[in-house]
Amino acid sequence: MGGKQRGVTVWFTGLSGAGKTTIAKCVHTRLTNAGLKAECLDGDVIRTKLCNDLGFSKQDRHTNIERVSYVAQLLTKHDVICLASLISPYRSMRQYAKEEIGDWLEVYVTAPLELLIARDVKGLYRKAIAGEILHFTGISDPYEPPLAPDLVLETDQQDVQACAQHVIDLLANRGYITRG
Ligand code: ADX
Repeated sequence: MGGKQRGVTVWFTGLSGAGKTTIAKCVHTRLTNAGLKAECLDGDVIRTKLCNDLGFSKQDRHTNIERVSYVAQLLTKHDVICLASLISPYRSMRQYAKEEIGDWLEVYVTAPLELLIARDVKGLYRKAIAGEILHFTGISDPYEPPLAPDLVLETDQQDVQACAQHVIDLLANRGYITRG
């Protein structure tokens, strides 16, 4: 990687706990260490700020994606590499993001649901299964997997560094960053 880059949004979609944020952070570190401009837009973080008025109804999730897409579009236009990690469970919402942003790569981060339930990093699956959280994606709310993602990362098969490398390779192969 050299100092050259072209704006793009890498859109990490997948169930809670699949590894979207962890991989995005690793990619971010690698890009910034190489002197490139990158920014993370993370669902959990954004929901404490820009989207702290939103819940998890279909309408609120849509509003969440609309706002994040707006910010991602601005960053992308200014040649930043934007790493957006959101469950974004509906194909229609991801299609919206793609159309708004233009330079957009879809990365599907996945692992078997049983494993996510066993890991349960945030303790949310236990609560969702107990009925304490309603409309929880993967348990009591739908998730529509991408039909033609640019990249699939199976986090039960490969570690974070390997997954991050695949994202870097994708960015290079599509001409958004130059290898140096
Ligand atoms: S999205 O559906 O609107 O794209 P987003 O990625 O911003 O979701 O937020 C998902 C995060 O919110 C999860 O990782 C989890 O920590 C938390 N969360 C709380 N309630 C829910 C719920 N009902 N469904 C999914 N995630 C939830």
